[in-house]
Formats: sequence, C-alpha cells, structure tokens
Amino acid sequence: MTHPQRDLIAALRSDLTAAGFTVSALSGLWGPDADAALHRNQRVPALRALARLRSTLGRSTATATLAELFVLGLPVAPALLAEALPSLGIQGAAELRLISSVDEHDESVRPVADLRPYSFIDQLGVGSWWIMSDLGELSLGHAVGEDHVLGVGGASLTLSGLMIQRPVDSALDLGTGCGIQAMHAARHARRVVATDISARALDIASLNAELNGFENIEFRLGSLFEPVADETFDQIVSNPPFVITPRAEGVPSYEYRDGGMVGDALVQHVVRHAGEHLAPGGVAQFLGNWEYTHAEAGLDRVQGWLDETTDPIVDAWVIERDVQHIDEYAETWIRDGGTTPASPQFDRLYGAWLNDFEHRGVEQVGFGYVMLRRPDAASPATPSPFRRLEQLHGPLGGSGSGLGAHLSDCLAGHDWQTRRSDAELAASTLVVASDVTVERHYWPGDDDPTAMILRQGGGFGRQTPIDTGLAALVGACDGELTIGAICGALAQLLSVDETALLDELLPRVRALLDDAILLPTPEV
Ligand SMILES: C[S@@+](CC[C@H](N)C(=O)[O-])C[C@H]1O[C@@H](n2cnc3c(N)ncnc32)[C@H](O)[C@@H]1O
Repeated sequence: MTHPQRDLIAALRSDLTAAGFTVSALSGLWGPDADAALHRNQRVPALRALARLRSTLGRSTATATLAELFVLGLPVAPALLAEALPSLGIQGAAELRLISSVDEHDESVRPVADLRPYSFIDQLGVGSWWIMSDLGELSLGHAVGEDHVLGVGGASLTLSGLMIQRPVDSALDLGTGCGIQAMHAARHARRVVATDISARALDIASLNAELNGFENIEFRLGSLFEPVADETFDQIVSNPPFVITPRAEGVPSYEYRDGGMVGDALVQHVVRHAGEHLAPGGVAQFLGNWEYTHAEAGLDRVQGWLDETTDPIVDAWVIERDVQHIDEYAETWIRDGGTTPASPQFDRLYGAWLNDFEHRGVEQVGFGYVMLRRPDAASPATPSPFRRLEQLHGPLGGSGSGLGAHLSDCLAGHDWQTRRSDAELAASTLVVASDVTVERHYWPGDDDPTAMILRQGGGFGRQTPIDTGLAALVGACDGELTIGAICGALAQLLSVDETALLDELLPRVRALLDDAILLPTPEV
C-alpha cells in the first residue's frame, strides 16, 4: 500500500469516527424493523425512516448521508457527501474507489463500494470496525458479478464466532475475502497471513485492515494452500468457497462461494491438506458442505477423507449442523446468485444443478464445522487420533461471544480425561459448568421423576438424558469430593455394588467432560 493511499484511509477513518458511523447509530437512525428488513434485502423502511429524520431536522446528518450512500447503495448530493467526509473529500473517496468519479456538473454521487460499520463481542471483548466490500444485489439492482467480493455474511459470523482465540504466534486465513476472519485472528495472533485467489479481494481486505488499524496481516495471492506451500501455522481459519456448483456451460461460477472443483472436492482438499500446514499443537477451523449419496452418508464421507490423511495424522471434530435435500440446496444457491424464482433462467439453472447431483448420485448436502488439530509431539494431546463426527442439527445454546470458548473448553476437557486412567479419574474432583441445569419430568402425583435431562445453556445447547445415579453424581460435583468418594456414598445409598457403579458412571463422566458439562476443578 502506497503512502498517499494510507493517508486517504487515515482521512476516511477520521471522518467515519467523527460522523459516529456505528452499528448502533444506524439502528438509531432507522430502528430495528428497518434493520430486519435490510437483512431481508429490503431498503424501503430504512429510506422512509431517513426521510422522516431529515424532515424533522430540516437537514441531513453525516451518518444519514453515509448510510444512504454506502449501506443502502443510493446516490447522494455531492455537497452532502463533502460535508460527511470533510477530511477525505469527494476526490479522495473516488481515489479509494468508494464512489464513481465526479465532476462539478454532477448532481449526485454514486457508490461503487459498500462500506458499513460492524460490531462484535468475542472472547477478548467488544469491538467495532468498518468493512468495505463490493456492492450487493440490493444496491446494484441486479445479480452480482462472478468476481464479487463479499461483505460480512451469515457464514462469516458463524466462523468468526467459532474461532478459538488463544494467543498464538501465527494464523492463516484461507480465502480472506473482505478480510473479516483475518482481522478477528489478528486480535489474538502475533501475525496473520491472509490469502485469496482474487486480487480484488486482497485489495479490499488490505484496505479494511488499514482502515481498522491492523499492522500484523500479510496478504498473499493464490489458490488454496499454494501461497503458503512450505509453511505451518498455529491456527488456520477458513470460510472457503464450499458451495457445490455444476461445472456446466452457462452456470455462473461466483468466486466468493465456488472454488471451481467438482462437488465437494474443495472441502475434501482443505480437510486433506490443512494438517500439513499446522504447526504441532495447531488448530484448523473451517466451514464446509459434504454430499450424501445413496451409497454413503455425509459424515462417513468426511470420515473417509480423514482416514486417507496420513501425514500428519490429525485429531478431528466435525459437527454437522444441517442437511438439505438437493432441491432445496439448488434453490438456495440459485437465489443467492441473484436469479429470481419463476424465471426461465432459474428453471434452467435448477435443471443444471439437479443433473449434476444426479450424475454423482447425490441426494442431500450436509453443512457443518470442521476442526482439525495437529497433536503436539512433545505432549500429545490425546492418544491420537481423536475423532468425533456428530450431527447437531438443533438450535445452539445462547452464548453472546460465539462458540469458540466452548470449543476450547470441550477440547481441554477431552484432553484432560483421556490423559487419566479410570483410577486417576476416580481420584479427581470435578465441577459442573455454570450454564448447566437439570430438568425433571414427573407423572402427576409421583414423587420420583420419570425422566431427567441435563441441559446445557450455552455451547451447543446439548440435552443429555440422565438416570438417578448420574444425576446424583453430577449434583455432588462441587470440586471438593472426588468422583470415587461420590460413587462410594451413592453405592451405599442405592444399595448397589460400588465397583459396578463406578464402571457404569466413569465412561459417562468422560463424555460429560468432552461436552464441557463437567469441568476439571480449576487449580488455585
Ligand atoms: C465465502 S468467501 C469467505 C470470505 C471471508 N473469509 C468471510 O469469512 O466472509 C470465500 C473466499 O475464498 C476465495 N477463494 C475462492 N477460491 C479460492 C481458492 N481456490 N483459493 C483461495 N481462495 C479462494 C474467494 O475469492 C472468497 O474471497
């Protein structure tokens, strides 16, 4: 990045700060209903709110001008923009490719980029940035181009929420797009390498990094792991272009979601090769789609990819969050590309999608999270490899700062329990996680419950059925009594054999540690 460009970005930062161009200011401008409408790609309620505001004040405000131009994608008067960006100026905004170039006769200025505030809460606290990306369908009034650079979408938020934020030396963001994951990683990594196949994406991402004051992100052009061929990282994150798209004539291939491979081959490639780029103890986290064929379930397919990955052998935790029938999948992604249903083009693309699926015998498509970990040779995390592939299709628990901290707790609990023999586990004390409650169901008039469920308030909101013995054990895990002592007392109370009770309960205690429902007692 050149000095003059840095100066322009500094001027933009100072103008956006002075204007108070924040997420809460925008919500204050047009209210939660208009916000919700914008999420549905409808801007009329927001526009009406802006018109009301101007009529009440008798003038526009800097935030309203910036919101109308960069969030709603509408032209504004040059004089208003000059007022909203006093340091950068109209010329500077054109040089940064935020607006089209203007001359003195123009009555309005048009946006050529989307620029909006973004706020978050993660494990390190709250934060607020501005994110530039390409104009979306709403602002363009038509489908986006195949080289579209995406802003912060639902999948971006899912991945940033999943990100484990332990301090690390190095992190890789593969397929950085507007740079959102790289910036999140740069909060806890000393240095981040952000790659993309799109030079435009890298330009936008580096502008965003500069705008938001990051100096520890390096941007590299190239496909998949090519730009980091011989390097390893302590953390890899990727929201890769995982959408399954027919490789057929006349089917648009959007760079932001389609990696150009057949079926789910791109996700397979990332699963197979991420481990080679992990330093010992390093963790990779990414999102993906996988196909269900009539011969093979989606998670079995992912298991197969993992089994073929032999150097290095990685720990893997794969969580499938959803499965869609191929019809619904095709409809979702054709619509996402800007083609409206009931048009001849939509039907043609729908046919191409179904032909492609039929050709490979695909019936459904799974979506989920993949986490890989390269065991640390010095202190192996587990008697490797740890493999956990599960379907968790229900709603998540409530956790304001995402799932990352919960995933860390689960991995720590798993490592802790696998390093202990049954005798060592029985001699240990545990505590119940603070988000866990017990739900008891009774037949009317009965004193004893007919069913009991451990409910996790955060994390994946797991619901684990438990019996009287396990309920009593969990209830007594206060960090003081050992598991063995609790089982001894329970055996007496229930008049059962103590060894048999321990044998029955210890595997279940291990499973509760894996789910961070029980936690090792913190050392003081
Ligand atoms: C779904 S977007 C994710 C953007 C951003 N990381 C996020 O989370 O919002 C996928 C990104 O991968 C990039 N991409 C596509 N094919 C790629 C490839 N073969 N190698 C690296 N990046 C690729 C796209 O240009 C796009 O920026």
